[in-house]
Amino acid sequence: MKYYITTPIFYPNSSPHIGTAYTTVAADTLARYHRLLGDNVHFLTGTDENAQKIVRTAEAHHTDPKIYVDGVVDRFKELWKALDISFDDFIRTTEERHQKVVQQIFTKLYEQGDIYKSEYSGWYCTPCETFWLENKLIEGKCPNSDCGRDVELLKEESYFFRLSKYQDALLKFIDEHPEFIQPVSRRNEMIRFIEGGLEDLCVSRTTFQWGIKVPFDPKHVVYVWLDALINYISALGYPDGENYQQYWPADVHIMGKDIVRFHAVIWPIILMALNLPLPRAVYGHGWYLTKDGGKISKSRGNVQDSFELIQRYGSDAIRYFLLREMQVGTDGTYSEDNVVERINSDLANDFGNFISRSLAMVVKYRDGVVPGSRQNGPLEQELNVLSQEVKKAVEESLNGCDPASALEQIWHFVARCNKYVDETAPWALAKQEDQRDRLDTVLYTFVECIRIMAILTAPFMPGLPPRICPLLGKDERLIRWEEADQWGIIEAGTRVQKGEPLFPRIDVSQYTTAGETKTVNQDQNQALEQIEEHVPALEFEPIKEEISIEEFAKLDLRVAKILSSEKVEKTDKLMKLEVEVSGEVRTVVSGIAKHYAPEDLVNQHVVLVANLKPTKLRGIMSQGMILAASQGEVLEVLTVNKDLPGGARVK
Ligand code: ME8
Ligand code: MG
Repeated sequence: MKYYITTPIFYPNSSPHIGTAYTTVAADTLARYHRLLGDNVHFLTGTDENAQKIVRTAEAHHTDPKIYVDGVVDRFKELWKALDISFDDFIRTTEERHQKVVQQIFTKLYEQGDIYKSEYSGWYCTPCETFWLENKLIEGKCPNSDCGRDVELLKEESYFFRLSKYQDALLKFIDEHPEFIQPVSRRNEMIRFIEGGLEDLCVSRTTFQWGIKVPFDPKHVVYVWLDALINYISALGYPDGENYQQYWPADVHIMGKDIVRFHAVIWPIILMALNLPLPRAVYGHGWYLTKDGGKISKSRGNVQDSFELIQRYGSDAIRYFLLREMQVGTDGTYSEDNVVERINSDLANDFGNFISRSLAMVVKYRDGVVPGSRQNGPLEQELNVLSQEVKKAVEESLNGCDPASALEQIWHFVARCNKYVDETAPWALAKQEDQRDRLDTVLYTFVECIRIMAILTAPFMPGLPPRICPLLGKDERLIRWEEADQWGIIEAGTRVQKGEPLFPRIDVSQYTTAGETKTVNQDQNQALEQIEEHVPALEFEPIKEEISIEEFAKLDLRVAKILSSEKVEKTDKLMKLEVEVSGEVRTVVSGIAKHYAPEDLVNQHVVLVANLKPTKLRGIMSQGMILAASQGEVLEVLTVNKDLPGGARVK
């Protein structure tokens, strides 16, 4: 059977993070599982490069978009390598193989009347790369629950795609294919959304040049989402590539819930208009949130360096954490504490410990040689039955794209194995000569249980088979999925070894960041956040009309020392300051309360326009104004060294 699985193509506006890693690790686990089943797997990932936000980020870095994305794409590839991601293909939308397919499809849709020219007038959210009608905005901002950022007004000639024409056909398809949108909560959400009425979609832009040109009207570039979705077939060599014939339709497109709408509405309609088969499933998982509930995202700057994490804990442990902690249909919480806790309890204590102590007993009591004679009793029968149940449950969970419950099932088996050690107490059997056969059975069972664990965990933690198989005197051919519920596979006489612990415990006292999510590269991320959020506002205020030096000299600027500071009641912007200047104390009201806590200002030496005519603000007489620099949402009060006393001239 063929199995075609994809991740979203991520925007390379900044490095990959825990969220993008989750989707990609989940897809990798499914791909590896299907390879173990013997399926002909094709696993695609890549990057979405023709976005307006890429242009802006590159501008903010004073570089060319292509040069900028080349660098970030390298980071993606490095991270995927570090996380053992086994993709078969990586598509970049700046590649020729993609661009020509997009142009071909755009032309075809235009020629058949599904794309038409008109004018767009409405709003655009660049971080989300989404068009919004005025009535959808929430308080004038992007209505996406994880966004809420500023939108920009667009009014430009555009091509439109007739989504509305396909609304009924899409609803019918969803109705007839209950597994098309998963999980069911997402499905219901989408049905409601489509029933609310589909507007024709604006699918071209003329106000920037970066992107794929509309071939018959090259002042237009193709809207990034129309372009991006097509990657799932352009990468296969649509329309006549061999991979396209072999793999399309996709078995599952996996992604976060933020972009299900594009995959469950726009993408199927593009395919319908082209008369192509629709994907079998679109799966939208939840988000990784930080401890305080914010979505982990590039633009929020709460992204921890994934490379550092992998270096610290290893790829398998990070993969395990990510897959285990995101329950189906809900969000997961990410913090480094949670990672350490999962490693210590699930991986070191339960899993690793069973393997090392049971192998240590085979070494101790039988010189590492797997014993031969055995007679299974009720406990062994029970383990045997459990392994069958667990294998089945894991298969069902993975068919439903739910790695967390699959791992939970596997850990039932691990727990049962640990209990088996205590129940059988091999150390007591070893003391009784007439229990020799029983001890053989128990030791043999240990080895088989390790083999089963190695198979079941292989898709999730691909670093384990090369470490566990040699302990059992085998190579990776031992990992045969169909044998995960078979007993009696390992031959008597096989030599096993104790080996190093698979997951050493992490000493929490050595772990200095416990209790908080340590955010590395905070400055860098904050810089990126500002780029993503504020570059749209990087329209600088025009420079004012010239003045003469005499006019400038009329300004009396002085250093002022802030003595006290408090927020002005019933406003969120105004701060009332008492400042000392030339030996007198003045009251100044300043619009900086959103940016500073009152206590941060006390004792700062700031710059005051000392001869400004006093004015009343909220009933308070303000005697002067303090200087601050600002751009967009960022504001900083100008301060000087404290050696300059209140009253010093600034000129
Ligand atoms: O949307 N938790 O790209 P993108 C879990 N280029 N998953 C997360 C996450 C989080 N906190 N943050 C991001 C795009 N993700 C488009 C896709 S596809 C044709 C075009 C993951 O870089 C999740 O899979 O914004 C989410 O859907 C995706 O990254 C968004 O990545
Ligand atoms: Mg996004």
